[in-house]
Amino acid sequence: MLYTDLPYDEETKTGFARAMFDHLDNGTTDMAPDILEIDPRIYTDPELAARERKELFGYVPIIAAHSTELPDRNDFLTVRLPNNEVVLVRQPDGEVRGFVNTCRHRGGRLVPEEKGTKRIFSCRYHGWAYGADGSLRSIADEPTFGTVDRNCMSLLEVPVEERHGFVWVIDSAADDRKIDIAEWLGHDFDDSLAAMEMDRYTCYTVGTFDVDINWKVLMDAFLDGYHITSTHAGTVAPYFYNNAQFWQPMGRHGRMVTARKSIDTVRGGSPADAPIDRHITVAHFLMPNMTVLRQPDHLEVLNFVPAPGTAVGTRMQMRLLTREPAVTDEQKARWDKNWAILMAVLRDEDLVVNDGLQKAVSNTDIGPLYFGRNEIANQHFHHWMARAFADPRKWG
Ligand code: FES
Ligand SMILES: [Fe+2]
Repeated sequence: MLYTDLPYDEETKTGFARAMFDHLDNGTTDMAPDILEIDPRIYTDPELAARERKELFGYVPIIAAHSTELPDRNDFLTVRLPNNEVVLVRQPDGEVRGFVNTCRHRGGRLVPEEKGTKRIFSCRYHGWAYGADGSLRSIADEPTFGTVDRNCMSLLEVPVEERHGFVWVIDSAADDRKIDIAEWLGHDFDDSLAAMEMDRYTCYTVGTFDVDINWKVLMDAFLDGYHITSTHAGTVAPYFYNNAQFWQPMGRHGRMVTARKSIDTVRGGSPADAPIDRHITVAHFLMPNMTVLRQPDHLEVLNFVPAPGTAVGTRMQMRLLTREPAVTDEQKARWDKNWAILMAVLRDEDLVVNDGLQKAVSNTDIGPLYFGRNEIANQHFHHWMARAFADPRKWG
């Protein structure tokens, strides 16, 4: 079964159908009260970028992997986050823990591999060895090194929680950081994500792009349903409606519905009876840096992780999740084809436009920039960012 029905109750689905039919019938879209003016330096300022890494990403949980990327005990994955490279390790009891990938001796990069399975992590430099729980197990030639309390020399640990099929991490080893994803998502948004059953999907593939584009430029590109006709004229524009969105803020996060042009085949009747499941995309925007797009037959998950030490570097990852693991050649061919289309759209269109934008906003003489009333999800993001910096303890 490749297509699954929308996992929401009839009332919610009818609401989606009614909102989209109204917008398409009237040429409208959900709108913010005003145009939003922003300072372009938010995309280029190194000081702001350093504050974001420390004051934002050092506190809030972000998705580091899908749980199926480390399915078995002792599986590990190294992930580069804004402040630390972290090693995620599935423990013998099934839980995932995360450690800063730095040897406590003199700072060797403990785990150079991207992924694998290990019970002991041995540092290549002088051979100190750590367990999967981060504890220091052995010191090479210990009698000559001198006396140290091994209990104080474990790898530094970051908070990790698995929820909705993902491994979430707070990118800080400070003692006072606590992770609580349900609380972070808020009741309604947590419910909406739970309904997607992302823990029943499998990660088919991960694409990683290291780009010289500020992470907010990329987040903005995926919050934006207004650029499809223009940017994606050669690929997906014929299949998707542009600039017609139903936006539902849910606390600091938000959900957006957009339509495929195929919705016209079910438009015209009563919203309550319209089978819209295959004709809409439901996107969940997770502040600060993630998007989950539900297509009728798969999920696309994007995250934009600022690189250390720069305002413009971002590691962008896209994951394609499928309901059933692809086993046969036919299944693999189907998802490979989907993936190739996604990559073409991303690499040849979104990244080209956004690379140009990053260069253009680096010009010395530019005025303020504007988000229209129709760019309502982008406005939500920028308002939230501004609030988060005004009072970092509240995070909007
Ligand atoms: S730096 Fe790791 S053992 Fe010396
Ligand atoms: Fe795009």
